[in-house]
Amino acid sequence: MSFAGFELTVALPKGRMMASAYRAFAAAGVELPAARGERDLWHGDGKLAVLELRGADVPTYVDLGIADVGVVGRDVLLEAGRNLYEPVDLGFGVCRLSLIRRPDDDAPIRRIASKYPRFTQAWLRRRGQVADVVKLHGNVELAALVGLADAVVDVVQTGSTLRAAGLVEVEVLARSSARLVVNPSALKLKRELIHPLIEKLRQVKIND
Ligand code: PRP
Repeated sequence: MSFAGFELTVALPKGRMMASAYRAFAAAGVELPAARGERDLWHGDGKLAVLELRGADVPTYVDLGIADVGVVGRDVLLEAGRNLYEPVDLGFGVCRLSLIRRPDDDAPIRRIASKYPRFTQAWLRRRGQVADVVKLHGNVELAALVGLADAVVDVVQTGSTLRAAGLVEVEVLARSSARLVVNPSALKLKRELIHPLIEKLRQVKIND
């Protein structure tokens, strides 16, 4: 299987951002092919191919050149540490990466749980602080609740997960929103296609 026959291959994250990404491309004049079924791995219409990926895998597919462009949150890019061209802030998927704790806990932080361990370690280094960072894959707030860690670094969007768990946002470490990312070689080879797309996406305003 190769996507070489397609004019453009687009990597999109499954979940909250997928529908907004479709709307952003449509508003930029690019109708991305729709999914055929729920368990589709990819779909194409002859010209365009869409890969449906876990958000954390979007930078990998774009960096390694399987996809030409992708949509992904800045939070994921901060963790991925890949060198991708990031020309457009698409404006939707606004959230923040925050340090979260139990409200009654002000002891020194010795262990932090996060889906963003590289980002968390880099933040600790910048601060000159030392703590163990434990990688988790989901429901990270639970780690703070049950004492697996003294704090967690996680995404806060509406804040409802935090409120429901009775946890508090101690500090905002980074702000995030959806970004268009582009493979540098694809940008050169498919210039006529990708440059106008970038220009149009810069004009588009999409709310979540
Ligand atoms: C993310 C994040 C928080 C929640 C924050 O989890 O890890 O748990 O969303 O959003 P809120 O502020 O609007 O409540 P996600 O739903 O992606 O699932 P996961 O924890 O399984 O990764």
